[in-house]
Amino acid sequence: MQVAATVPEHSHSVFARAAHALHEGLLVAFPTETVYGLGADAGNAAAIKRLYAAKGRPSNHPVIVHIYCLEQLTEFTRHVPEPALTLAQKYWPGPLTLILPRAAHVLDEITGGQDTVALRIPDHPVALALLREFKKGVAAPSANRFGKLSPTTAADVRSQFGEHEVAMVLDGGSCSVGLESTIVDFSGFQSGEHCAVRILRPGMLLKRQIEETLQVKINGVKATETTETTDAQRTKVRVPGSLRSHYAPSTPLKIVSLEALDTYVAALSAKSARFSVISFHKAESGTDGCLTENSTTALEWIVADNDPYGYARDLYGCLHRLDGLRGDIIVVEQVPDAPEWTAIADRLQRAAAII
Ligand code: TXA
Ligand code: MG
Repeated sequence: MQVAATVPEHSHSVFARAAHALHEGLLVAFPTETVYGLGADAGNAAAIKRLYAAKGRPSNHPVIVHIYCLEQLTEFTRHVPEPALTLAQKYWPGPLTLILPRAAHVLDEITGGQDTVALRIPDHPVALALLREFKKGVAAPSANRFGKLSPTTAADVRSQFGEHEVAMVLDGGSCSVGLESTIVDFSGFQSGEHCAVRILRPGMLLKRQIEETLQVKINGVKATETTETTDAQRTKVRVPGSLRSHYAPSTPLKIVSLEALDTYVAALSAKSARFSVISFHKAESGTDGCLTENSTTALEWIVADNDPYGYARDLYGCLHRLDGLRGDIIVVEQVPDAPEWTAIADRLQRAAAII
């Protein structure tokens, strides 16, 4: 479904109701351009507790506070380093989260007891309308149960939470970016020390774009390494997304190189395994002819988008669907080792880590 560029006039009462629910300490799920968020009043400790309970997430893990304008930064931070402001001005609203020194009053329930707070202005008309109506910050992790796939449609959210847990689910169609925001950590930043800026989680806003904007090289992550985890462990920053079993479907997932794909799939077919495939190639295009419609018994074979932005947009939706087939295994062709694919490769590796 196409996301409306603006919010229709008649829907204002929906946002008033949603904002009212947030004021009451209830949870409201809403779309962002990355994934759907499960929102709670960032200033209400009881609401945050309810949020953690609904997600089944350990309560010492920090959450991102969503805001709608740069002026709100001062409500949550002690100060904003100049390069962080430069990024905010260039990429907000957008798929970027900034880790900044927290203001004293920010709840420990939000920060996980750390001295920092995560902030982001999402680029989605529904999210922005809700945030404007509510006026205060909304704490929102991805609207999935802990360790499960992030939702990119309202239906994905509804499939995970009952009405008694989530008061409202705002439907804004499918998320246009499809993967969680790029997290940039400024907590170690001292004036003039650009190298202390780190990417904690890769997203579709690329390291290269951030470096070009800030005119410096920064420490980042490469999906094939576990820099995110090591950095997180070293600094004791708790980043749930850095756990290897995160973003996982229930079905085991295996990443296979193009060269090995034919043989791997043929072997699964031969033993009558119930499997599905995400590949850049059609089933019948196997070079040795073993992947014809007749010989492969894939439950579903998805031909993936060659464009990384299209692939990212579709990935969680595809995994949700294939997971729903309740097969033995999901086979995913390895994605290219290129900067535009880093966040995708990162999520695939975490999804694969379960086996
Ligand atoms: O795109 C997104 O970022 C989505 C949408 C809903 O905005 N949100 C999202 O939230 O992915 P969540 O909770 O699933 O992931 C937020 C990540 C976690 O890995 C968390 O640990 C990290 O942000 N985080 C939050 N506060 C932090 C802090 N103060 N220091 C370090 N990491 C932090
Ligand atoms: Mg999440």
